[in-house]
Amino acid sequence: MTTPQPDTAARTTHDAEADARNSDILIYVDGELVHRDQAKVSVYDSGFMLGDGMWEGMRLYDGEWAFFDAHMDRLFNSCKAVALEIGKTPEEIRAILDRTAAANGMTGDAHCRLMITRGRKAKPFQHPGLSKWGPTIVAIVEHSVPSERVQGTGIRLASVPQVRGLPHSQDPKFNSHSKLNCVIACLQAEQAGADEALMLDPQGFVNTTNACNFFIVRRGEVWTSTGDYCMNGVTRANVITLCREAGIPVFEKNFSLYEAYGADEAFLTGTFGAQTPVAEIDGRVIGAGGGAGPVTRRIRALYKAMVAQNVAEQKARRG
Ligand SMILES: Cc1ncc(COP(=O)(O)O)c(C=O)c1O
Repeated sequence: MTTPQPDTAARTTHDAEADARNSDILIYVDGELVHRDQAKVSVYDSGFMLGDGMWEGMRLYDGEWAFFDAHMDRLFNSCKAVALEIGKTPEEIRAILDRTAAANGMTGDAHCRLMITRGRKAKPFQHPGLSKWGPTIVAIVEHSVPSERVQGTGIRLASVPQVRGLPHSQDPKFNSHSKLNCVIACLQAEQAGADEALMLDPQGFVNTTNACNFFIVRRGEVWTSTGDYCMNGVTRANVITLCREAGIPVFEKNFSLYEAYGADEAFLTGTFGAQTPVAEIDGRVIGAGGGAGPVTRRIRALYKAMVAQNVAEQKARRG
């Protein structure tokens, strides 16, 4: 009999169960629905050339985009901050997403990446005024069920030298097409043999991961960073709200790797994977290691109920 080996294969918070239907999805590109192989934007597009665009990730449950208003709030705020005219109302954006999902026969278990760039440029240079034709709007909606394996094994994090920026360089709250800061962090984590990066803030406090927000559980309390240097995650805000409503002590505060290593549980939050357990940080096993601990499991259950309530409210509102 062979001894089972620990599961050391690479994994990410965005691992999904394989779904062959995704090879033939239709993608929304500027008013048209086209097969993914034909879905293209210009090499002059501001998003391609400069990373000058904003995006949102949303999930479809029972025909509704969960927490749609919060996602639109963030998107419209970000675009306003960089003077990117969307040229559509949130309801018009919803109609685009609904049309794309319907064209692909999806009512649930789907994830959307909505991308809005400043558009096509007249010349291959940086000045935003050169983006004469825009915005470019693309919606990729894929069949998507987050991988159960990641839920069972957890994610291995490595703290990395790449830090989150100060708001007056490129505010980390921008969900911009340019994710180079996060990509560099992820590469550093891979180099260290981990799945994803745990990023610190400029003072050295634990902040966030390259793709998700980060929480620890210590002695029954739930801690996350102050929020100053991380993405203002919709799931992060929902987890804080549901903890408050359920009487689970939750704090947005500075803490260091010292406290993260000694946590009883740790988990990541994001629209894609909801709450994903953390198995290790820098080789230190967190709690029992592997899958979600009791507080994370409770939060997952409360979040599931929160999604269901939000979806029901949206259905009632829209008749
Ligand atoms: C860097 C980063 N942190 C966190 C998140 C999670 O945000 P949300 O919960 O709104 O999906 C994202 C997703 O866009 C992200 O890119």
